[in-house]
Amino acid sequence: MTTPFRSVNPVLPTSSPVVGNPSGGLAVGARGIVKAFGVGDARTLALKGADFEASQGELHLIVGPSGCGKTTLLSVLAGTLLSDQGEVDLFGTRLTGLSASEVTRFRCRHIGFIFQQFNLIPTLSLVENVSVPLLLNGTGRREAEAQAAERLRQVGLAGRERHLPTQLSGGQQQRVAIARALVHEPRLVICDEPTSALDSLTGHQIMDLLSTAAKAPGRSVLIVTHDPRIYSYADRISVMEDGRVTHVHAGASLSSFIHSENRS
Ligand SMILES: Nc1ncnc2c1ncn2[C@@H]1O[C@H](COP(=O)(O)OP(=O)(O)O)[C@@H](O)[C@H]1O
Ligand SMILES: [Mg+2]
Repeated sequence: MTTPFRSVNPVLPTSSPVVGNPSGGLAVGARGIVKAFGVGDARTLALKGADFEASQGELHLIVGPSGCGKTTLLSVLAGTLLSDQGEVDLFGTRLTGLSASEVTRFRCRHIGFIFQQFNLIPTLSLVENVSVPLLLNGTGRREAEAQAAERLRQVGLAGRERHLPTQLSGGQQQRVAIARALVHEPRLVICDEPTSALDSLTGHQIMDLLSTAAKAPGRSVLIVTHDPRIYSYADRISVMEDGRVTHVHAGASLSSFIHSENRS
């Protein structure tokens, strides 16, 4: 019970070099993304003309077998990896038209990241870790730490501000990573396998936090996963195969996809 991938709306606002069009429905639009790694016999075509779309206010899962290009697509969408071909628009800004320093500034301001292995800085306290995105955006240390402490409270870690990441469980570390990803109120939250290193109960707690984050006005949360246990949190699921998005599920098609995946 799948619906074929529908073509991406070609009429996207593209002219502004800064983020614009906050009332528009489209958060992410990517068309014809091609990305190869290596040369000669070692050349791997990781993305073969991938199209992808995500809306504002949406928790969107990107799923598919290992090696199909999920992480590569996320990296291109976030501007951490340059594609060989194709275009990426984020909230009305054409990412592929910006200079490297403009992309970095855009990313610091508008994107939050969450990874499978949490990626906290081990020598920094929790409140210092969570402060990092604010410091990068020019907020003073005292104000940044006050906001970071409030974020830690929101993820259930009040009183742990001066602890080090190694003093926490995996689930607690991922909650710190969520606080860090949200502290600068990004428009786009990008998560690569956020529950894969966690047990089922902890994974659901993390997904509850990410679902809540997706409801912030104008925000979109993208999650790469191969964990069918969390599919039920999705507003939409894009399925990738061999370097392309092959199906997009929403509504009734989403329900039947989740049902079939959880039975197999
Ligand atoms: N830095 C890299 N150098 C060479 N090959 C890579 C690199 N990153 C990814 N690949 C290859 O690109 C393909 C897609 O990888 P990836 O996007 O990590 O897939 P997924 O996240 O779906 O498991 C795989 O064949 C992988 O081996
Ligand atoms: Mg991956």
